[in-house]
Amino acid sequence: MNTVSICFVCLGNICRSPTAEAVMRAQVEAVGLADRILIDSAGTGDWHVGKAPDERAQQAGRARGYDLAPLRARQVAAADFERFDLLLAMDEANVRNVLRLCPPTRRERVRLLMEFAPAGAAREVADPYFGGEEGFEQVLDQVEAACAGLLAHLRTRLA
Ligand code: 4NP
Repeated sequence: MNTVSICFVCLGNICRSPTAEAVMRAQVEAVGLADRILIDSAGTGDWHVGKAPDERAQQAGRARGYDLAPLRARQVAAADFERFDLLLAMDEANVRNVLRLCPPTRRERVRLLMEFAPAGAAREVADPYFGGEEGFEQVLDQVEAACAGLLAHLRTRLA
C-alpha cells in the first residue's frame, strides 16, 4: 500500500504550520486515510523549538474542533527533504528559506500550500503572530480551504 508524506512549514512552527497539521489530520482522518497520508510540520526558524503552539492558535483551533496542544515546534532539517514528498510553505519567505536548505534534486517538493486552495484565493497564509485574534481565524479559513484541495490532490497520487 503506497503512502504519501507531507510537512507544513512556516517561520516559527507555533502558529500557521501546526494549525495546518491539525486541520489536515482531521480532514485525512475523516476520510479514513490516516495510515496513507503522513503529516508533520516544522519551522524555518529555531526560536520556538520544543514549545507548544501559540496559545491564540490553540484557542482558535479548539473552537473549530482541532487539538493543537500535543504539538511541539521543531526546525526544518536536511532529512526532511528525503522523508517528505511535499514541503508545503505558508508564504514566499518560507519557500525561499526552505529552498536554501534544499538539495537541488528535491526542489520540486517545495510548494506553497495555497497553490491547492480554490482559484482566486490569496497565495500566502499571512503571519498572524504580531496581529490580533482575527488573524488566527483567517489562518484557519485559508488552511481549511487549501487542505481540502491538497487532500483531493493527494488522493490522485494514492490511487
Ligand atoms: P508562525 O508564526 O511562523 O506561523 O509560527 C510566527 C511565530 C513566531 C514568530 C514569527 C511568526 N516570531 O517572530 O517569533
